[in-house]
Amino acid sequence: MKATTRLVQIAVKVLEARDIYSFELVAQDGQGLLPFSAGSHIDVHLDNGLVRQYSLCNDPGETHRYMIAVLRDATSRGGSVAMHALEVGQTIRISDPKNHFPLAHNAGHSILLAGGIGITPILCMAERLSNADASFELHYCSRSADRTAFAERLRSSSFAASVQFHYSDGPEAQKLDLTAVVANRRPGTHLYVCGPAGFMDWVLETARANSWSEELLHREYFSAAAIDTSDDGSFEVQVASTGKVIRVDPNQTVIGALASHGVEVITSCEQGVCGVCLTRVLEGTPDHRDMFLTSAEQARGDQFTPCCSRALSARLVLDL
Ligand code: FES
Repeated sequence: MKATTRLVQIAVKVLEARDIYSFELVAQDGQGLLPFSAGSHIDVHLDNGLVRQYSLCNDPGETHRYMIAVLRDATSRGGSVAMHALEVGQTIRISDPKNHFPLAHNAGHSILLAGGIGITPILCMAERLSNADASFELHYCSRSADRTAFAERLRSSSFAASVQFHYSDGPEAQKLDLTAVVANRRPGTHLYVCGPAGFMDWVLETARANSWSEELLHREYFSAAAIDTSDDGSFEVQVASTGKVIRVDPNQTVIGALASHGVEVITSCEQGVCGVCLTRVLEGTPDHRDMFLTSAEQARGDQFTPCCSRALSARLVLDL
C-alpha cells in the first residue's frame, strides 16, 4: 500500500552550489499547496520506482510553492541522479508534507546545526524562528564555500547576524567550536541537527557529554549508514489479527516476507529513516536497525521499523 500522492510541476531549478540543485515545486492547477511546518519533508516518487525524502527549505509561511534541494550523492542508489536529471516544466509525484523534525514550542533559545545539505530543514526552521522573533543561532558547516548552498540567501536574510559559516578547508579560527557552543547554553535551549551521520553523531555525543538531556536534542537523518547483514539469520513474525506465522529468511526484510503472504505495510524510505512503516510489537525482541526511533524508544521494544529491522528473539508478534 502506498501513501497518498499528488503531481506537482517543477517551476524553477537552480544550481545552488557544487553538486546541489534546488527545485521549486508548484501545484499543476495554479492553486495553493497544503501548508507545512518548519522541519517538514515530502516524499518524492521517482519514475524509476525509488522514493526519496527531501526537506522543505522555503519559508513555512508560503503556500504557493515547496522548495527542496538535492545533493548529487557520489554513492547514489539512483535517487539524486534521477532528481538532477529533472528539468523545469516536468511534473513529479510527491506526498503531502510530513514532519518528524518539528520545532519545540516555547524554546527559550534554539541552536541550529547544519552539516552540508542538512541545511535544508534548518533553513526552514531559521525562517520560522526569525518570523516569530524567537532567539536562535545557526551554525552551518560545509566542506568549502563552493559547496555551501543558500549562502547568499542566508547572508542577505533578516537573520544574517545569527548565522555563522564554518568551512572545513578554511582557517582554524572559523571552524566550529562545538564544545563551546553546547557548553554555553541558557535554560530552555533546544538543539537541532541535520547532516551526514558522522556530523550528527559528533554533535549529539558532544551535547550528551555536556549533560544535555535527550528531550532537548532534535535530529533528522537523511539516510541510514550501511549495516553489516552477513550474520543475519531467519526468524518468524506472527500477524496478531489472524494468527498467521510467517518465516523471514536471512536475505528478506520483514516487509518483503509479509508482502509475499499478502500482508501490506505502508513504506516510504525502506531504510529506517522516515518512520512510515512503524509497527507495534506485542511480543518478542526487535533488532533495531533504524535511525528514526530514539535510543529510549528502541529500548522499550514495543515498536520497530519492519523495512529494515529484524528480531533478536525467534518470533515477533506484530500488531497487524
Ligand atoms: Fe521508512 Fe521504514 S519505510 S522507516
